[in-house]
This record gives sequence, structure tokens and C-alpha cells, in this order.
Amino acid sequence: MDQAADLRKTGSTVKVIAVASGKGGVGKTNTVINLASSLAGMGARVMVLDADLGLGNLDVMLGLAPEYNLKHLFSGEKRLDEIMVEGPNGIKIIPAASGIQEVTQTGTREQQILMEQLGRYEGEIDFFFIDAAAGISDMVTSFVRAADIALVVATPEPTSMTDAYALMKVLCNNYGEKKFYLLLNQVTGEAEARQVYNKLSRVGEKFLDITLIFLGYVPKDTNVPLAVCRQQAIVEYRPESPASRAFADTARRLKRLPIRSQSGGLNYFWQQMRGGKTSD
Ligand SMILES: Nc1ncnc2c1ncn2[C@@H]1O[C@H](COP(=O)(O)OP(=O)(O)O)[C@@H](O)[C@H]1O
Ligand SMILES: [Mg+2]
Repeated sequence: MDQAADLRKTGSTVKVIAVASGKGGVGKTNTVINLASSLAGMGARVMVLDADLGLGNLDVMLGLAPEYNLKHLFSGEKRLDEIMVEGPNGIKIIPAASGIQEVTQTGTREQQILMEQLGRYEGEIDFFFIDAAAGISDMVTSFVRAADIALVVATPEPTSMTDAYALMKVLCNNYGEKKFYLLLNQVTGEAEARQVYNKLSRVGEKFLDITLIFLGYVPKDTNVPLAVCRQQAIVEYRPESPASRAFADTARRLKRLPIRSQSGGLNYFWQQMRGGKTSD
């Protein structure tokens, strides 16, 4: 069966998924790469933006050495199609600059350049992932707010849970965001994932009146750091490993999720980004 055609038939515009965590090092980039690759393996057309603009490492995790990146796009030297590189299962990757401070001070103009060129891909992709930076900068919050799906990645470590909560609190109190999806990473199994989810969703409901939806979990798996060292997506390197199976399950669930707005897609995303929600 042609699953890509199937996706299109279900009337889907692009599903824009922003992945954030508050705390760094919890597995965001790894999650983005593997969910994107899994979905692409199922026939979806997937694009990924490394939005850790100044310290991006998504390309490094895949052993790609892109010649150009967002810096060249923002400076006008290159177009979006010229900086894009291909990842596992044909995912399209927009590489961030690395170690370039100016890029972290991205303002309205840069966002417009990116969004304008992205708009041309409407109808050509099914999923658009944003690997947001750690922390709760304006850049992170504007990406999360503009996306259809706000996906929070957390681990059972108290520091990760606290930061995930802080991120949701800022998004809720300052911007009225009320719905988040949670992916628990590095858990021992479903029981621990559910336990952490229950805790976070209880406090979220009680103090912020938000809805937290359990999207899935990924077990702690020694194959993950091995794949990272080999600079390969684990779903490619060890497709039968526990983490890979979990990514595939989560990817299937993502495919079934409805998008936030009726209009949806990259145009909606762009409008949201332009709606005065910029970092300067
Ligand atoms: N499910 C997992 N099992 C084992 N190790 C993991 C898992 N997920 C992530 N890691 C480890 O954590 C490191 C950081 O992951 P990364 O995706 O770079 O985090 P972030 O993008 O949130 O900073 C990875 O290099 C990997 O070694
Ligand atoms: Mg990262």
C-alpha cells in the first residue's frame, strides 16, 4: 500500500510538531531524528528544522557535514533548497549554524526569510519537525506556540520533570497554551513512563489547568548512545532494538493525531510566527 498517498488522501496538510524540553540532554534531538526517520520509513514526507540555531547538532548526530546552513539562508547567500540536506529514509533537514552567536539572535527578518521559503513546501511534506533549543527563550516559545503539536520530551529525572513543567508553565501563563503532548525518554518501561506522566499531568491540571497527553515512551537503551557514536539514527542502525520499536510505535500514534487548527499546515504556522510573536 502506498502510505504516502494514504496520508494525502486523509486530507492532511502538514503536521507541524515542535519538540521542546526545557532541560537539555534529555533526548530531544535523538527523538526528532528517529520519529522523523520512522515516519519517512512509513512513507511520509518529512522535513526537520534544527532550531537550536546557534548550537545545532542534529547534522552531527547523523554524520552529515552540510556545506551551508541557516546562517547562509539568513544572510541571503543561499536559498532554503540549497542549504537542505538529506537524512535517513530521505528526510529533509534544515541545518542550524554551529557556534555562531549572531544566529541565536534571530529576529523578525530572519524568521520571515525562513517562513517565506518554507511556505513553498506546503503540499510537499506531511510532517515538519522542529528541534527546539533547550531553555525557554522567546525563540523556543514562538516555535512551540506556532506548531500544531507541542511535544515535550522529559526523562524521569526530577530536574527534567521540573524543567518540563517550567516550560509548560511559561507557555500557559504567558501565552495561553493549554495542550501539550508528552514523550517520556530513558524510562525503564511503560510503568515508569505512566508514573511520571501521571505526576506531571496532575500538577499541570491542578496548577495550570492544562491538558497533558501521553504520546509515548522510549526505554533507556544502550543501543542509543552506540547509534549516536556511529552517527546513525537508531531506527536505521538497530531497527529491532527496544528504543527503535518505541519510536516506531510513537510515530504511528503521531500519524493518527488530528492537527490543532482547521487550516493547519505551514501557512498557518507562518501566520502564527508572524503574528507579533517574535524574539525582538
Ligand atoms: N532512550 C535512550 N537511551 C539511552 N540513552 C539515550 C536515550 N535517549 C538519549 N540518550 C542519550 O542522551 C544523549 C543526549 O541526547 P540528545 O538527543 O542529544 O538530547 P537533547 O537534544 O535533548 O540535548 C544522547 O547522545 C544519548 O547518548
Ligand atoms: Mg539537542
